[in-house]
Amino acid sequence: MMPKARVGVLISGRGSNMAALLYASRADDCPYEIVLVAANDPQAPGLALAAAEGVPTFARAHQGLKRAEFDAIIDVELRRAGCDFVALAGYMRLLSADFVANWQDRMVNIHPSLLPAHKGLHVHEAVLAAGETVSGCSVHLVTPELDDGPVLGQTRVAVVPGDTPETLAARILIAEHQLYPRVLAGLVSRATAPETLLDRVRQLALALPEAEEKLSHGSPGFFVRGGKFFAYFQRDHHGDGITAVLVKASGVEEQAQLIENDPDLYYRPAYFGPSGWIGIRLDTGETDWQHVDDWLTRSWRASAPKRLAMLPF
Ligand code: GRF
Repeated sequence: MMPKARVGVLISGRGSNMAALLYASRADDCPYEIVLVAANDPQAPGLALAAAEGVPTFARAHQGLKRAEFDAIIDVELRRAGCDFVALAGYMRLLSADFVANWQDRMVNIHPSLLPAHKGLHVHEAVLAAGETVSGCSVHLVTPELDDGPVLGQTRVAVVPGDTPETLAARILIAEHQLYPRVLAGLVSRATAPETLLDRVRQLALALPEAEEKLSHGSPGFFVRGGKFFAYFQRDHHGDGITAVLVKASGVEEQAQLIENDPDLYYRPAYFGPSGWIGIRLDTGETDWQHVDDWLTRSWRASAPKRLAMLPF
């Protein structure tokens, strides 16, 4: 089974969404675990709850620090904890562009409205003032613009006659606690799904000069026009449960060396093994895509016709 994705949660206060994420993560089949809860306010009540549940916490008051400086401190903590994803849960800070860029597509936020309606603060007041009959909550990817990234999931919540901002907020919060764990689980699962891994391999492979794709014995294969195959994507090949890309090593000696040095990453693939192909696993939970790209390029060079293999890139 794939290792669980590591999630860091950023809070500023109560932390009830953090708690919802945390308790959902305690189910055996939840694809993520919470490895850090960090706050920009050492008094945030959610910190005590996380600590009581045995989750590592980090707190630092943001006062006196420039936005980018503070975000850099949080970034270091998230990396130190080995986070793959970040979930903002009532984190009342605008984020610096660098921080957002560092976590692009891997950072989500929950907002108590049906985005794109009612971004920002005082949401429930605005919903009631507008006389709306339905509100709700949204989980979205974080982009530099506040409450603006692609929406990953929403729950609609009826506005009831007599609602005040408080009663509406309380009902929407129940919906938030259901929605957030479900959407986060979906996001982290998609990131490691074989289709997503194939898309990334494909993107890298087809970026190489004159590279093309065709199926070979049921596996997507990548070849150089007028040349040979330089990579194959394999997924549960003959039921081995492995998702991997096969590339060409220099021969069986190098292949054996690679496997000896890093047996969790490399393996000798069936059929292709004897001719010096090496399997690089993509299902370890920590794929180094630069490394995959380097291997694809090298394998491409070994397979491309001379006129292309000499290209400087
Ligand atoms: C939630 O309503 C969330 O949508 C908004 O801030 C509130 C945080 O509550 N972004 P909590 O700290 O998760 O209890």
